[in-house]
Amino acid sequence: MIIRTVCVLGGTGFVGRHLLAKLSAAGYHVKALTRDREKTRHLWVLPEVDVVEANVYDEAELCRHFQGMDAVINLIGILHERRKGDFTRTHAELPVTVAKACLEAGVPRLLHMSALHADEHGPSRYLRTKGEGEASVLHAADHGLKVTVFRPAVIFGPEDSFLNLFARLAKLAPIMPLACPHARFQPVYVEDVAQAYVASLDNPATFGRRYDLCGPRAYTLVRLVRYVARLRGACPVIVELGDRLSYWQARLMELSPVKLITRDNYYSMQVDSVCAGSFPAVFGIRPTALEAVVPSYLAVE
Ligand SMILES: NC(=O)c1ccc[n+]([C@@H]2O[C@H](COP(=O)([O-])OP(=O)(O)OC[C@H]3O[C@@H](n4cnc5c(N)ncnc54)[C@H](OP(=O)(O)O)[C@@H]3O)[C@@H](O)[C@H]2O)c1
Repeated sequence: MIIRTVCVLGGTGFVGRHLLAKLSAAGYHVKALTRDREKTRHLWVLPEVDVVEANVYDEAELCRHFQGMDAVINLIGILHERRKGDFTRTHAELPVTVAKACLEAGVPRLLHMSALHADEHGPSRYLRTKGEGEASVLHAADHGLKVTVFRPAVIFGPEDSFLNLFARLAKLAPIMPLACPHARFQPVYVEDVAQAYVASLDNPATFGRRYDLCGPRAYTLVRLVRYVARLRGACPVIVELGDRLSYWQARLMELSPVKLITRDNYYSMQVDSVCAGSFPAVFGIRPTALEAVVPSYLAVE
């Protein structure tokens, strides 16, 4: 399978901008679909990348955009719902529409972004709807679509919303009540995730497969927060909340206009976000250690 043209959904976000840069550098011609082109000026400079406005929920419109494409990559996902049903719409229903549009437009290859521990029977709606999305795109493989699913742990990199959030809080708050302090995470570097996508595009060994992607080391949440606080030159008092208080903090935070944590995030953290094995060898990547990168964007001079 020779792939030259790729259509990317959700390519304007944190992971997307790293992936688009890699695809562009590797010589692929990329069409990135967005809801609002004006907000994507940072991508306009990339050679071989066209950013196009589209309603990705409209199957006929998607089908038109997919005509002549060799592959589609769907990165669309959300961490918080604005309205009830958003998780189902973006994680479970949209992947069905994308897979159908691929089959209709004759696109042979689909790369789908899920999340570590996505499971139709998982503890949170985030994980359950991601699990439903995965199941339906893999089902499309029965109709001839060559599908690969990626399931990363929390992703770190210069514009991440995870470590950057705790770095800002550590600087602002002298006392930090921390929910689920002993939840475990095995963060993976955004460049490694993007590289895995590029490496799998035309590799038949990855067709029909799902891959868990984690970094080389696991940490408790409190350890990560202490680490980023130290890098920022802050030393807040971190109050480690027990399980019941963690739940109530999440519940109260849902009333805040700024979404720091919700009950659904709390439920997701009931499963440790760590991988059972090492980084999939098929991609030829040695995963980058957090300590090798994070100081470059969080440490104070
Ligand atoms: N970041 C992590 O730590 C992490 C970990 C595991 C899995 N993931 C998954 O990786 C994917 C990318 O994550 P990210 O951190 O890059 O996310 P992001 O920065 O929020 O970007 C997601 C992109 O999807 C589009 N999008 C967002 N909400 C949408 C909606 N309701 N309808 C249609 N399009 C929407 C947006 O594009 P436009 O605004 O241009 O339309 C946005 O640029 C997601 O599926 C996420 O669940 C992320």
